[in-house]
Amino acid sequence: MPGKVIIRKLLKKAELEKLIEIQRVVWKHPDLDLTPVHQFSISNFMGGLVLGALVDGEVAGFVYSFPAIFQGKFCHHSHLLAVLPQYQGYGLGKKLKWAQRREVLKLGLDLITWTYDPLQTRNANLNFHTLGVISRTYLPDFYGETPALKLGPGIPTDRLLVEWPIKSERVEKKTRGEKEEFFNLDSWPRALEGSTAPDGSYRPGKPRLKIKEPIFLAETARDVRALQATPEIIAAWQSALRQVFTHYFRQGYAIVDFIFGEKCYYVLKKIPTSNHLL
Ligand SMILES: CC(C)(COP(=O)(O)OP(=O)(O)OC[C@H]1O[C@@H](n2cnc3c(N)ncnc32)[C@H](O)[C@@H]1OP(=O)(O)O)[C@@H](O)C(=O)NCCC(=O)NCCS
Repeated sequence: MPGKVIIRKLLKKAELEKLIEIQRVVWKHPDLDLTPVHQFSISNFMGGLVLGALVDGEVAGFVYSFPAIFQGKFCHHSHLLAVLPQYQGYGLGKKLKWAQRREVLKLGLDLITWTYDPLQTRNANLNFHTLGVISRTYLPDFYGETPALKLGPGIPTDRLLVEWPIKSERVEKKTRGEKEEFFNLDSWPRALEGSTAPDGSYRPGKPRLKIKEPIFLAETARDVRALQATPEIIAAWQSALRQVFTHYFRQGYAIVDFIFGEKCYYVLKKIPTSNHLL
């Protein structure tokens, strides 16, 4: 990517106004669903954080978080992360998240949370494999009837809440670019697996809910955007993953990684205590 990249806090009104345009371009949301400038301003004043990625002085992306309490623990909750399409894939998203981590550590906090749609595999890859979050909280239809946040008509706005234990050894390793490698995947148990239907579509099988092994996989559709014309297949994947995650989270498993390849898999692992990874 040509251009000089700087990551820094955005404090001026003129810079915060740029974030409205970025939200419009990245999410194509109607105005009612945009986070307004006054929300960013008051957050800046009250312990929140608005970080921008500037390329040659122009705001190309941003990340926004605010102080929050998750299950009785003080943390930052990260609500928006966006990079303009022409700048995506050049590392700006990662830079923004690592800068967010550094700033939140300075505030004396050791946890950042956020939510995302588990069917979005690029985000899953960024969150688990690159940044090192874990997830053990499933939020079915969390945003309800908000058309801008749905993947298609009639598809609930399910979300995973992820926990980023920013002081942990797990995340320290990720700052050094160390990523888990997985071998012999064929021998791993699978709670969910896709197969090709007679019409050529790739659909989820029946969830397997009796796995006892400490670590296993759950497949997800590789590219949900390619399924826009068939919302019933998106809904089928969502419903199957919802069953798998809600069932195994109750059994003490957490999602600890994501494998992005020709096929995509969530990695679930039994974790000994509720705060083991934090
Ligand atoms: C998500 C988003 C902010 C990422 O920003 P970006 O600058 O494009 O991302 P980066 O180039 O820094 O890549 C970060 C990671 O994302 C994942 N990723 C990015 N592009 C990917 C692709 N084509 N395939 C798979 N994973 C990909 C990888 O994990 C990558 O880390 P790696 O380079 O170590 O493998 C950006 O794509 C975006 O604005 N998307 C639309 C809005 C959105 O989804 N926001 C996040 C909601 S949780």
